[in-house]
Parts: sequence; C-alpha cells; structure tokens
Amino acid sequence: SNDFISIVVTGAAGQIGYSLVFNIIRGDMFGTEQKVRVVLMDIEPMLEGLKGLKMEIEDSCYPLVQEIVITSDPKTAFTNVDYAVLVGGMPRKEGMQRVDLLRANAAIFKVQGKALNDYAKKTVKVLVVANPANTNALIALLNAPNIPPENFSCLTRLDHNRAKAQIAMKANVNVKDVHNIIVWGNHSLTIYPDTRCGYINLPTGKATIANVIKNEAWLQGDFVSTVQVRGAAVISARKLSSAASAAKAITDHMHDWALGTPEGEYVSMGVHSDGSYGVPVGVIFSYPVTIKNGVYSIVQGLPIDQYTREKIDLTTKELVEEKESATKILAEM
Ligand code: NAI
Repeated sequence: SNDFISIVVTGAAGQIGYSLVFNIIRGDMFGTEQKVRVVLMDIEPMLEGLKGLKMEIEDSCYPLVQEIVITSDPKTAFTNVDYAVLVGGMPRKEGMQRVDLLRANAAIFKVQGKALNDYAKKTVKVLVVANPANTNALIALLNAPNIPPENFSCLTRLDHNRAKAQIAMKANVNVKDVHNIIVWGNHSLTIYPDTRCGYINLPTGKATIANVIKNEAWLQGDFVSTVQVRGAAVISARKLSSAASAAKAITDHMHDWALGTPEGEYVSMGVHSDGSYGVPVGVIFSYPVTIKNGVYSIVQGLPIDQYTREKIDLTTKELVEEKESATKILAEM
C-alpha cells in the first residue's frame, strides 16, 4: 500500500534516536497528513531498550503511526524502506585516532550499504549521520551500486542551522528571517560556514548579512570558528553530544529532501560531488542545494573569492584524504 511511508532509523536506541523518532511520528518530517511505518534498528544488546522506546511511542498516541518495528537484523531493517537515516555507528573513544574510527565504521557502513542495495526500494533516500558522516556515506554508496549516488547524503544541516542561529543572534533578528547560509565541505572542524550569499529580511526589505552585521572581522573570524567548534562546546557543557539539535537538523534535511525547498531558498546538504566548485568528483561534500520533487540541485555560479577558495580547498583536502584511507581500508576487508 502507498498510503504510508516506510523509514528506518539505525542507532535508534541512542541519544539522537530518542528525539528523532518522536519528530518523525509527530509529522515534523513528512507532514502532519503522512502516515509512517518506522523501523527502529540497533545492535542486539540494545533491543531491550528499543522495546522500551516502542512502549513510549505507543503511549504517546500519535495518530500518524502505521507500525513500529524493532530489529537488529539488516535485512529486516532495510526491506522496502523509502527512507533510511543511519545514525548508528561506532563512537570515537578516548585516544582513538581518526583512522581507527574510520575502520570501525567502514565495517558497519559496508554491511548497511549492501543491505540497502539488496533490500531497500531502489528509490530509497539515505541520510548518514554517524561520524565521520561524509566518508561513512561514501562507503555506503560504494557498496550500493544499484542505488543512484544522488540518493545518498550526509548530515551537515546541523552546521547550517548553527551558522544560521549565530547570525540571527548577532543581528538580533528572528532565525526565520535569515536566508541562504551555506556550509561547505566536511562535517568536521574544517567545515566552512559562508554568509556572503546570505541575506536577512528586515522590515525595510532584504539586506545582505555583511550590511546588517557590519563586522567583517567577526564574519571571517569568530563566527567561522564558533560554528566549527560548536559540537565540542556542547559536549563540554552538557557532557553529552548534541542530540535534540541533531535530531531537528535531520528532520529539516529529510523534510526538505522529501517535500522541497521554498523558491530561491538554499539549504546545505552533504552530497556526491559532481565536480562543482572545483571539488573532485566522488567525495561526499556539503554544498548549497535547492530541492524540487525529491531531487536536489547543487546551486551553481556562486561567486567564490580567494578566502572562500582557500577554505573550500582545505576541507576538500581532508575529504580526499579520508576517501583514500577508506578505499584502502575497504580493499583490506
Ligand atoms: P549514541 O551513542 O547515543 O547512539 C548510537 C547508537 O548507535 C547506539 O545505540 C549504538 O548501539 C548504535 N549502533 C552502534 N553500532 C551500530 C550498528 N552497527 N547498527 C545499528 N546501530 C548501531 O550516539 P548519538 O549521540 O545518538 O550519535 C550518533 C552518531 O551521530 C555519532 O556517530 C555522532 O558522532 C553522530 N553525530 C553526527 C552529527 C552530524 O551533524 N553529522 C551530529 C551529532 C552526532
């Protein structure tokens, strides 16, 4: 039947899962008329926790719930899904090198990529959240040759939202009046938040962000670093990593991918590079996109000044290196 959408969330027993699942069944992701079948997937030791989550979902009486499935089996999890949000992964532990993190996650995303390939709908839209998100998404994509590369993405919407919030606070305007922020590149410390194409709706009309904030040094300095280290700042304050804000960003990303962006509005999304803006083809790179009928287009022709060029090149270099490590790791597996 086509009257419900089927979505799987992996790592559903984790922190992000606990917020995300309620966003989905409340209708924040696909609209308040769309019924959803939600598959909650996690590793076997977490199934008991998922049972508890399922009970809470039942007790919340959300009318959009078609069915809740809990499983640790990739085949059960991915069969016939329309959407897959891959939140589950191996967390970085004290003293762990980035390459060790990459290796642990490569094994997971290889399996899940293959399972998506074998069991999901060929039209499935996949969002990878688990870190390193861009490269995990690439590994899933490389293991799913029957699904178009355009159907794979990674989450950089949290960085985008963080940048938007910083601008709104600095300009003392409502976040809804801040438009066309861009975050470029890797979801890491090298992500580059760019406000040059953005604007703010003031009572007097549209104004560029630079003209409202009138502080170029802040826009190129503290603003950029605040966004880049925001995840670490949340961890040090909360003693836990961003969860509700990550779930909100996931919800925004999937909402816009499924239902489209308003005319003229850009959002940032980690997608398979087609070579736009001098980034090599075949890395997962955060670009400004617009979305129509479930298909994103990378915004073309934006002016790139020298400062932006350097920032894009830096984050590109990191992603190319991650891709090389991942390719090596996959070849050894
Ligand atoms: P968490 O540790 O609370 O939950 C992760 C869950 O994934 C756990 O329940 C774990 O059992 C599960 N898991 C581990 N391996 C799995 C597998 N092979 N299959 C299915 N499930 C598996 O972590 P939290 O806070 O929910 O974050 C999840 C991930 O999202 C982390 O990798 C984190 O770094 C990343 N993240 C990414 C953001 C982004 O902007 N891209 C923002 C925030 C977090």
